[in-house]
Amino acid sequence: MSNPWRSEEKLLFAKNFLQHPKMLGSLIPSSRFLVDRLMNKINWKQARTIVEYGPGVGTITGRILERMSPDARLVVFEMNEDFVRHLKRAYPDRRLHVVHGSAENVYRELDRLKLMGADYIISGIPFTTMPVQLRETIMRESRKALNPRGAVLVYQFTRAVLPYLRSHFEQIDQDFEPRNILPARLFYCTR
Ligand SMILES: C[S@@+](CC[C@H](N)C(=O)[O-])C[C@H]1O[C@@H](n2cnc3c(N)ncnc32)[C@H](O)[C@@H]1O
Repeated sequence: MSNPWRSEEKLLFAKNFLQHPKMLGSLIPSSRFLVDRLMNKINWKQARTIVEYGPGVGTITGRILERMSPDARLVVFEMNEDFVRHLKRAYPDRRLHVVHGSAENVYRELDRLKLMGADYIISGIPFTTMPVQLRETIMRESRKALNPRGAVLVYQFTRAVLPYLRSHFEQIDQDFEPRNILPARLFYCTR
């Protein structure tokens, strides 16, 4: 499905990167190759509750909504107000719940929505530039919010996050997507 917002989204993303470089961690949204690689890891027939951290302008959000089943729910956590406003306008889908807040609230928010047990958490937030305490809280709450058979899919530009992931998840499979600016490391974490 073509996205009529694409040029506007790229501009909005770049403008916000200039204002909040550490929070965004990237000048442009993820490539379709990276998004495809992430999407291929999801069992769409089984996924009922999907969570995304840091959707930005919705590059991955839109693709999840295209693929997920009619009775599944997608909960996204975004701290940037411009992006939250854009997501609500661009994706008027009753299966999508946009939270204006930090990923550290995942457990509490899923509980509030009576959606305990995320099947997948997809994370594009810049773990290595955020305060240590915040990173620890997000990892701990993500593990708590995850269905015992669920998975956390993390993409980053370096492997620096790996030791932190290892201290919270038992199994981590790694992957790599070169066709992205910058080339991306992927980590599939399970309990
Ligand atoms: C690299 S961008 C990823 C955007 C998009 N997912 C993509 O792949 O193109 C990172 C996003 O994470 C958001 N972010 C950073 N820290 C966050 C946090 N603690 N909770 C939720 N979102 C956060 C930023 O505002 C930004 O939109």
